[in-house]
Amino acid sequence: MIKKYSIKELLDQGCSFLNKEVLVEGWIRSFRYSIFIILNDGSTIKNLQIVLSKKLEKKIIKKITIGTSIKVIGIIKKSIGVKQYIELKSSNIIIYGSINSDILQKSILQPKKHSLEKLREQAHLRFKTSIFSSIMRIRHYIAFSIHKYFHEHGFFYLHTPIITTSNCEGTGKMFQITTMDLKNDYPIDYKKDFFKCKTYLSVSGQLEAETASIGLGKVYTFGPVFRAENSNTSRHLSEFWMIEPEIAFYHLDENMNLAENFLKFIIKYILDNCMEDLLFLNENIKKCKKNTLLEKLELILKFPFQKISYTKAVEILNKEEKKNKIKFHHSVLWGEDLQSEHELYLVNNYFNRVPVIVFDYPSCIKAFYMRVNKDKKTVRAMDILFPEIGEIIGGSQREERYDMLLKRIKDSNIDKNKLWWYLDTRIFGSVPHSGFGLGFDRLVQFITGMNNIRDVIPFPRTPSNAEF
Ligand code: 4AD
Ligand code: MG
Repeated sequence: MIKKYSIKELLDQGCSFLNKEVLVEGWIRSFRYSIFIILNDGSTIKNLQIVLSKKLEKKIIKKITIGTSIKVIGIIKKSIGVKQYIELKSSNIIIYGSINSDILQKSILQPKKHSLEKLREQAHLRFKTSIFSSIMRIRHYIAFSIHKYFHEHGFFYLHTPIITTSNCEGTGKMFQITTMDLKNDYPIDYKKDFFKCKTYLSVSGQLEAETASIGLGKVYTFGPVFRAENSNTSRHLSEFWMIEPEIAFYHLDENMNLAENFLKFIIKYILDNCMEDLLFLNENIKKCKKNTLLEKLELILKFPFQKISYTKAVEILNKEEKKNKIKFHHSVLWGEDLQSEHELYLVNNYFNRVPVIVFDYPSCIKAFYMRVNKDKKTVRAMDILFPEIGEIIGGSQREERYDMLLKRIKDSNIDKNKLWWYLDTRIFGSVPHSGFGLGFDRLVQFITGMNNIRDVIPFPRTPSNAEF
């Protein structure tokens, strides 16, 4: 039996395959002079050159077009060309599936520039393009590095429910779930619904992660979350992936340090393990104003993250506006949430692209579970702002005092009866604890340098769009 190899295996260990007979399978990227096939199988950004045997029948050659899927058997030889070290001298080719030339002409497989919007419309072909396959490989490595980091730091991977009755963040709309017939059972009596109560798709696994951390110590979630806000921006998805570590006996400072170490670990891991794909993206995407993609990633590792309180951030932004350095669309007022223009100005301009951690936000703009500070006006919240992306992480030290938490729940008009199980964690050996949520897709967007978050997720879900 002739052994089957991926193109990555063959190209990575070129020398050891010289003069060996191998089998490869893939899709044709190009076909030149009726003799050279450029083959890709998705395992790497690089392609394998196949040299066709002169004995190959004309009727097979006629079927060889871009996009055709083939199996090739042949001997690995040192290539005469400068572009590649090895090539495959084929002795036998089997065609699995060909493409009709009319269909091919109209498709994004044609080797010319296609817009990323056009690629999004063709979910199946998108994976065959160099740009999207690079992003997908990097996305995989990022996910892997996240599990690796937590595993090596003593965290347990926790699976939190997707179906929930509570709105952890309290803001924004949730997708409701029901098995009732919305037309005939109207008005809906939720006691007759599947779960005998109103249920939703979860916006965050945090409350459950907190519950588990007070027992397991260090946990993290990594799963899909859902938000029905009508935010049609380049940084919002309606369904996205979030990582939420939660740590018992942890204060805000420790939480900030963990977040910084964690982000730096991931970026270093990608620089160490995905250089071929990064180099491709570095060359092929529009360069941001000051840095290339690689410079931008290296800058994250180079300096400690800046840390400023929300009050200081408001002060800086107001001063900058007074000095006429910038004119914001929304004025910066203490007690109101920072808009993305404010966040981006802070990180891109004021701190020269070094990530910024803003902490101690006013309690009135943050969720009920954050620990109230001595001033009674602010909470132990922290947001991490990244260049170009803005907020990439939102986290806090949690309110571990039962009475304070109950008050915040009441003040936020949340039904305390729905959260009895969460409140209970504060009366059975409550502890200071902290955690944060990292938007996975926003991190992939940052690392791959894409302008739009829709281009880093295989099947984007956004307002008015649930195709595929
Ligand atoms: O700031 P958020 O809403 O925080 C939470 O959900 C907390 N429960 C996290 C925690 O403390 N455990 O969301 C966390 C991160 C944001 O910083 C952002 O990166 C990302 O999730 N995010 C989105 N990403 C894509 N599309 C959206 N619509 C997003 N909304 C938030
Ligand atoms: Mg947030």
